[in-house]
Amino acid sequence: MQATRHEEGPERHRVALVGTGHRGAGMWGKELLQGWRDRTEFVAICDVNEMRATAARTAIGTNAPVYTDVDEMLASVKPEIVIVCSRDDTHDEIIVKALEAGCRVITEKPMTTTPEKCRRILEAEARTGRPVDVTFNYRFAPTAARIKQLLREEAVGTVTSVDFHWYLDTQHGADYFRRWHAKEAHSGSLFVHKATHHFDLLNWYLESVPREVSAFGTQRNYGRNGPFRGERCQTCSHARDCDFYFDMSKDPWLTMLYEDPSAEDGYVRDACVYREDIDIADTMTAMLRFENEVIVSYSLNTFMPIEGYHLAFNGTKGRIEVRQYERQAFETPDHDEILLMRNFGGVERIRVPHAGGGHFGGDDRLRDMLLRPGMTDPLGQRAGALAGAMSMLCGAAAVASMKSGRPVRLAELGGLPA
Ligand SMILES: NC(=O)c1ccc[n+]([C@@H]2O[C@H](COP(=O)([O-])OP(=O)(O)OC[C@H]3O[C@@H](n4cnc5c(N)ncnc54)[C@H](O)[C@@H]3O)[C@@H](O)[C@H]2O)c1
Repeated sequence: MQATRHEEGPERHRVALVGTGHRGAGMWGKELLQGWRDRTEFVAICDVNEMRATAARTAIGTNAPVYTDVDEMLASVKPEIVIVCSRDDTHDEIIVKALEAGCRVITEKPMTTTPEKCRRILEAEARTGRPVDVTFNYRFAPTAARIKQLLREEAVGTVTSVDFHWYLDTQHGADYFRRWHAKEAHSGSLFVHKATHHFDLLNWYLESVPREVSAFGTQRNYGRNGPFRGERCQTCSHARDCDFYFDMSKDPWLTMLYEDPSAEDGYVRDACVYREDIDIADTMTAMLRFENEVIVSYSLNTFMPIEGYHLAFNGTKGRIEVRQYERQAFETPDHDEILLMRNFGGVERIRVPHAGGGHFGGDDRLRDMLLRPGMTDPLGQRAGALAGAMSMLCGAAAVASMKSGRPVRLAELGGLPA
């Protein structure tokens, strides 16, 4: 789906970071400056919360000026690249402004949260001729790349169906219910915020896009399901009894980025996972029918004892299966094993070692692809705005189906320019 693109441009990119929470200050801040200093110069650090931006600037290790207003930042420093790491529902406005100012944009996933916002971004990209990259880092994980190769080689013939089940553990899953992600207006729900990764992987693996989605979603553990509730863990009278009690004071990074700056906007990192106004599902399934007739069974669970996924491609000549464990209490191997099973034949066990760094090395490969010169892209791992839109629209269709109780076609959402 994605054409090969080679990164060219100046030796050191003039980068503005917008959104300085954990992702911005970490992956796209401190780590970027540590590993890609020869390619990156920060020219602005921008966040609506000045205290967080200032704390992040120190943590990142730059003297770049701090801004709280994107317009002012764009006009003052004229960055070459704007990296967007703000809350999901704010991405579109920042992306469009940056494109209009002539910048190249690297945006965190999900690209945005509604079909209307998707269309706005795609129209701005076409109008300005400036590119948007969406950071689908899971495409760059070693196991994903190996599976993509096998599918390209038609190792199991023509793929007819896919089983894809993703599990978030009680730590990672709960984190989404402590913060803005728990409100559909901010995250688009986990069908958008989280599943955008998974729908993007499907679109990329299958080199097609879904025509139609049928979905169910329920809230069974967080929100109103809690046996009690408070405002936040730090002040909660139920701290001793709550399985989800989270003592943020033990984490200096989170304390620095969130606790002190919360004085400015009240945004706390340890809000109660049982808040009654949480309006997103925590247990979801979807069925997708792709344009190339592949059918997919997908699920996302958010309070599991395991973190990882189960993925299988069923084809006319066999089956590719992988069970990936990312983090759990019991011991798991330091590698993934892809089972390549051929109809009427044997099984080939393909061992894929885990690389270091975020997403088993995927985060580093992604940053290389976006910032190092001369990178080739034989597997089409680099993702643009159209890929960002298509995976977001899968999630929007799932939410629409969940609410209406009927299958929803992506075409009816109006998320693509006419
Ligand atoms: N690819 C991945 O694996 C991955 C992992 C984590 C987060 N993310 C994405 O990164 C982004 C940031 O996540 P996070 O966990 O750091 O969130 P966060 O809430 O910790 O940080 C977001 C920051 O954006 C700021 N902000 C909100 N509106 C803004 C605006 N209009 N202009 C400027 N700043 C604004 C907030 O003040 C906050 O500091 C999200 O889009 C998230 O989906 C991606």
